[in-house]
Amino acid sequence: MSSYLITGVSRGIGFEFLRQLSADTTNIVIGLVRNKDTTDQKIAAELGPRKNIHILQADLTNYASIKESKKPTMGKSEVVKITGGSLDIIIANAGFMNPDSAWDPIGVLGEQPERFEADLLYAFRVNVIGNIHLFMPLILKGTTKKVHALSSAMADDKFALDYDLAWNTPMTISKVGLNTAVAKFSAQYREHGVLSLAICPGMVDVGHFDKLTEAQLVKGGEMLGKFKTYASDFAGARKPEDAVKDVLAVLDKATVTDGSAGTFVSHFGNKQWF
Ligand SMILES: NC(=O)c1ccc[n+]([C@@H]2O[C@H](COP(=O)([O-])OP(=O)(O)OC[C@H]3O[C@@H](n4cnc5c(N)ncnc54)[C@H](OP(=O)(O)O)[C@@H]3O)[C@@H](O)[C@H]2O)c1
Repeated sequence: MSSYLITGVSRGIGFEFLRQLSADTTNIVIGLVRNKDTTDQKIAAELGPRKNIHILQADLTNYASIKESKKPTMGKSEVVKITGGSLDIIIANAGFMNPDSAWDPIGVLGEQPERFEADLLYAFRVNVIGNIHLFMPLILKGTTKKVHALSSAMADDKFALDYDLAWNTPMTISKVGLNTAVAKFSAQYREHGVLSLAICPGMVDVGHFDKLTEAQLVKGGEMLGKFKTYASDFAGARKPEDAVKDVLAVLDKATVTDGSAGTFVSHFGNKQWF
C-alpha cells in the first residue's frame, strides 16, 4: 500500500497513472487538477466508483491555489486528512506544450518576441515553478519517499544536437529547468532518503497529433523520421497504458543509493530515449 499525489490527472498520461495506481485498492491516490468537477465526472464515467481516489483542485500557475489545496480544514490540510499525515510518492505529471509554437524553430519564434516571451514564461510557470511547489514535507514523513517528474527526451541537449531537433523550443527549455529542479531537490533531500527522478515516458499518444494542421503534420512527420533514424525499431507514439507501466517500473526499481537519484532517464531507465 502506498499513497500517491499526481498532478494533471484530468486526461492523457496523468489519467492513466490515476487509473493504474488506483486499481490497487490498497493505494491512496490523490489527483491535483484545474477542474475537479469535470475530472470527477470522467472518473465516474470511465472508472466507476473508486473510493481510494481523491481529487483536489489547483492551478499550477497559481501558488495561492496550490496552497489552497493544502489548506488546513478543521486543523489539518486536505492531503493530511486523506493520507493521515504523509505521502509516499509524488508524480509531477502536469505539463504544458503550446501546439502553436511547437513546430517552428527558435529563429522563427524569435521574429515575434512578445509572443515568444509569453510562451516561454508560461511553459516555465507550469512545467518548472508549478512542479516545485508540491508536497515535500509530507514526502519526508512517507515510507517510499519518491518524487518523479515527467520530463522529455527533447531536453537532452546531446540528443537534440545529434539529430538537429529544432522543434518544441519553449517546452524543451522548461523541461531542462525541470530536470535541474529535480537535481536540486535530490541534492537537498537525498540524505533524508528521498529519491527525486525525472523520467521521459517516450512518445505517447494522447491525441496531440489529431489536432495538427497540414503544415504541422509535415513537420511532425520530419520529427518522427529523425526518431526512426535514432532508433530503427521506433514505431510512433505508444499507448498511455504501456508508457505508464514502463515509467512505474523504472520508478519502482530506482533507489536513492543506486546512482539514479536526481537524474533524468527514459522509460527504459537509461539514456536510450526510444
Ligand atoms: N505525450 C507525450 O508524448 C509526452 C512525451 C514526453 C513527455 N511528456 C510529459 O508527460 C506529461 C503528461 O503529458 P500528456 O501528454 O499527458 O499531456 P496532456 O494530455 O497535454 O495533459 C496535460 C495535463 O497537465 C495539466 N495541466 C496543464 N496546465 C496545468 C496547470 N496550469 N495547472 C494544473 N494542471 C495543468 C492538464 O490539465 P487540464 O486538463 O486542466 O488542461 C492535463 O491534465 C507532461 O509533463 C508532458 O510534458 C509527454
